Amino acid sequence: MNRRKWGINSPELTELGFGSWTIGGPWQYGWGPVNDFESIEAIEMALDSGINWIDTAPAYGLGHAEKIIGEVIKKRRSTIFLATKCGLVWDDNGKIFNNLHPKSIRQEIEASLKRLQTEYIDLYQLHWPDKAHPVEKTWEELVKLKNNGKIRYLGVSNFDIALMERCQKINPIDTLQPPYNLIRRDIEKELLPYCQAKGIGVLAYSPLESGLLTGKFDITRLAADDWRRKGINFREPRLSRILDFIKKLQPIADEYGKTTGQLAIRWVLSNQTVTSAIVGARTKHQVKENLDATNWEISKKHLEEIDILGRQFLK
Ligand SMILES: NC(=O)c1ccc[n+]([C@@H]2O[C@H](COP(=O)([O-])OP(=O)(O)OC[C@H]3O[C@@H](n4cnc5c(N)ncnc54)[C@H](OP(=O)(O)O)[C@@H]3O)[C@@H](O)[C@H]2O)c1
Repeated sequence: MNRRKWGINSPELTELGFGSWTIGGPWQYGWGPVNDFESIEAIEMALDSGINWIDTAPAYGLGHAEKIIGEVIKKRRSTIFLATKCGLVWDDNGKIFNNLHPKSIRQEIEASLKRLQTEYIDLYQLHWPDKAHPVEKTWEELVKLKNNGKIRYLGVSNFDIALMERCQKINPIDTLQPPYNLIRRDIEKELLPYCQAKGIGVLAYSPLESGLLTGKFDITRLAADDWRRKGINFREPRLSRILDFIKKLQPIADEYGKTTGQLAIRWVLSNQTVTSAIVGARTKHQVKENLDATNWEISKKHLEEIDILGRQFLK
């Protein structure tokens, strides 16, 4: 699988990363019940097929996703680029809060290292902004963690340029993790050019819009506690418009002998500012299918057609 770098001295990441939000199981923003055995198979399939990095977060299943990943990677830790996050914490009832206070981060990282069964984290990312605490203090704490060898690279997620600039004054940001896919293109205007200019890696999340762009999405199959039941793009009137848009993409996917899901992931990677696409999966079969989003290119003509269809359907 092709690999990309975000700077001369950055590590090489495969075009696809394994996303682990789904495998966390039930929590406030969970995807309904999961089968841990299937999750393990999915991660192993990803790694055995050449995917060299995993994205996770403590919040995914309140530690559950990190624990599953820790079990899988312990025998091959040095071959994997492991990314996790901090800043979303939970109370005794499992309710999620933002907290980027340095003290909270010091506790979070120790818990993540334990669950992940590792002595270091390759990429540590601030999951969401936290208005209650000055980002400068938070970022200084991350620099300290880097200096004492607990983390190797420093990332942010869901940050805007103003917030990134405040971090950059203290220490360069290695990566940004934003949402980016066929129906969520707002980062193209300012964030992507900014990252390109500053040499910040872009790790695009939800390339399939959490399953919606696969062409196989069926809302009636979702568990009662799957967060997608409440997601704005999963409700009418947007849901039908998006499903119509995907139908229009099918002939383009057909020309390459691909599914619309594979086309959607490839489309994200057609933007050279993107370092890698983080693709979530519940089963090894999904991973296998998604691997076919690599090693081919969408033509310029089709990229233009996709732009036009997007403008028609997603006003
Ligand atoms: N930083 C952040 O705030 C943030 C936010 C969102 C995501 N992320 C990261 O990005 C990763 C990916 O994003 P995402 O989980 O939202 O979703 P995604 O990659 O857009 O879609 C993944 C989901 O689509 C379905 N799917 C995947 N492959 C499929 C296939 N071949 N056929 C049919 N269905 C398939 C599966 O769900 P079902 O089988 O249940 O339909 C799977 O869990 C996350 O796991 C996480 O690591 C980060």
